[in-house]
Amino acid sequence: MKHLLAVNDLGAEGIEEVLRVTDSFVEVSSRAIPKVPALRGKTVVSLFYESSTRTRLSFETAARRLSADIMTFTAPTSAIAKGESLRDTVETIQAMGIDAVVVRHGSAGVPQLIASWIDASVVNAGDGWHEHPTQALLDCYTIRQRRGSLDALRIAVVGDVKHSRVARSDVAAFALLGADVTLVAPPTLLPPSLEGWPVTVSHDLDAVLPKVDVVYVLRLQNERMKEALLPSLREYTASYGLTRRRADLLADDALVMHPGPMNRGVEIAADVAALENSVITTQVANGVAVRMAVLYLLLGSGQDLAG
Ligand code: NCD
Repeated sequence: MKHLLAVNDLGAEGIEEVLRVTDSFVEVSSRAIPKVPALRGKTVVSLFYESSTRTRLSFETAARRLSADIMTFTAPTSAIAKGESLRDTVETIQAMGIDAVVVRHGSAGVPQLIASWIDASVVNAGDGWHEHPTQALLDCYTIRQRRGSLDALRIAVVGDVKHSRVARSDVAAFALLGADVTLVAPPTLLPPSLEGWPVTVSHDLDAVLPKVDVVYVLRLQNERMKEALLPSLREYTASYGLTRRRADLLADDALVMHPGPMNRGVEIAADVAALENSVITTQVANGVAVRMAVLYLLLGSGQDLAG
């Protein structure tokens, strides 16, 4: 594997491989000194053109735990509208001698473009509405950790599917691992066409919740809504929010997930996020080990994993 741009590039086998290697790095992360020399001498650049807290810190922590050097580049979204300046930036960074670029950008396809320009490995950390493959990998890892396997699991993905790269990557990965995915959203928050999506669709969250093993709540992406897609936040919460009352409809062992950052009280109630079956902080913790696995598989093959 040279780049990680989209979930479908990995296929089911590629996902399984990342999850297997992640197991080793979860073990490394539990050590008193959670660090291995696997990527000593390698340089990883994080190139973030869009805001991020957990994803950027998670990748940087992962790189450090593998003993890689890390360079950080953050840019205000507005300054990079021109393709030429993006290319200049990337070529400048490349000239410094780097091994991997972790990129987040507001436009779909930018990681792919960068991969065509440079020799280093490229990891997509979120491109527009398109994909966020490491989020899907950490979500699969978290579900597998709790439920053993995703095969035949019933997963509801709820909310703002239209603007969500997390939904696109998650649906692809969940389906590749054999899960049965239902999207639950108002028609205005679904993509205009679901052709090729391996999903069923519902507009009735109350009817879906009792039947699922996992409810995956998406963030309402207000910053991506150019038009009025919702009557009001209150009405959204009334129909599609995971309120405390609705959480009681879930089976006892059903998992509650969210990629963060949460709009508490909008798509998910604060007390639901704190329930015992909520694995939202486990998702974040697993994110570091998953990203260690991805960086290791891209840059470190042939080296002693446990170091
Ligand atoms: C997501 C993102 O930015 O794609 N956050 C994340 O990486 N965990 C989801 C979101 O912003 O809603």
